Amino acid sequence: MKPVFTIMSALLLAVIATVNSCPPSDRAALLAFKAALHEPYLGIFDSWTGTDCCHNWYGVSCDTESHRVADINLRGESEDPIFERAHRTGYMTGFISPEICKLTRLSSITIADWKGITGEIPKCISTLSFLRILDFVGNKISGEIPYDIGKLNRLTVLNIADNQISGRIPASLTSLSSLMHLDLRNNKISGPIPRRFGQLGMLSRALLSGNQISGPIPGSISRIYRLADLDLSMNKISGSIPASLGKMAVLATLNLDSNKISGTIPPTLLTSSIGNLNLSRNGLAGKIPDVFGPRSYFTVIDLSYNKFSGSIPRTLTVASYIGHLDVSYNHLCGRIPAGAPFDHLEASSFSHNHCLCGKPLRAC
Ligand SMILES: *[C@@H]1O[C@H](CO)[C@@H](O)[C@H](O)[C@H]1NC(C)=O
Repeated sequence: MKPVFTIMSALLLAVIATVNSCPPSDRAALLAFKAALHEPYLGIFDSWTGTDCCHNWYGVSCDTESHRVADINLRGESEDPIFERAHRTGYMTGFISPEICKLTRLSSITIADWKGITGEIPKCISTLSFLRILDFVGNKISGEIPYDIGKLNRLTVLNIADNQISGRIPASLTSLSSLMHLDLRNNKISGPIPRRFGQLGMLSRALLSGNQISGPIPGSISRIYRLADLDLSMNKISGSIPASLGKMAVLATLNLDSNKISGTIPPTLLTSSIGNLNLSRNGLAGKIPDVFGPRSYFTVIDLSYNKFSGSIPRTLTVASYIGHLDVSYNHLCGRIPAGAPFDHLEASSFSHNHCLCGKPLRAC
């Protein structure tokens, strides 16, 4: 080959290499991120060598135009061959280095189900203005949710469930105007649900169960038009159930069980779109509203362990479907209605009341 061609092809190769490879600063940030973690069983970081972090670095991908790192996707439980070969799920210790914040074009960070990652969520995460997905589920991350998380106006998924996050839900969280999926389950979060929670206009799932959240259910929640799944169970929530929850267009699951909720059941709650209702283990009292009808369709109504009195609503017998009904451990009295929705229910659904009688309990 003539020398001029050699030089030209060398130049061409150099150009291709720069086009394909990530900027040295992104590579340096990734290596600093890797240095703070320890993954002893699978070798997921073994591929993080060489200059081009945009190719063949396990769990890393870059934007095709900017060539900046756009996604970090590291799951400790997946069907990737790397797990099959090791015959085990992932385990990783260490912490999430703030160096990750130098990857300023990140659009998704998933560091999920590694069980052993400790430390805090880097405060600087709220400067990653391109972030759409933040998923740290299933680690041992402690500390608080960054107070200015609300700056992430593109964020659609915030999942930090199954960690040891403490402190309050920051007020700024309510300005995450793109947020669709919020999962804070099973942490140590305390304090109230921010009063302006209802500002989260795009939210479809709000899962806050298994924390120490106190105070009332903000009425503003009922303004969230797309909300389909609201789980506030196993907290310390008090006050009454806002009647407006029964006016929500697509709310299908409402879990308020194991809290300190008092007052009565708003009748609208039982005529709404809700098909999965758990109010078990609260301080609810009064009569169960007799408002069911042919359009009532419930997979679950669990009202057990409350202080309901009066009788079992007669209209329940005309409901189109009642999959599972539990009214045990209340102060109910009178004849259990007979009819199709009741035929399959067992005695345990009605036990421990004042003076209920009839099938499947003793005859009246
Ligand atoms: C309702 O919540 C209670 C208490 O948290 C729980 O024990 C029960 O299994 C739930 N009911 C259903 C039908 O899931």
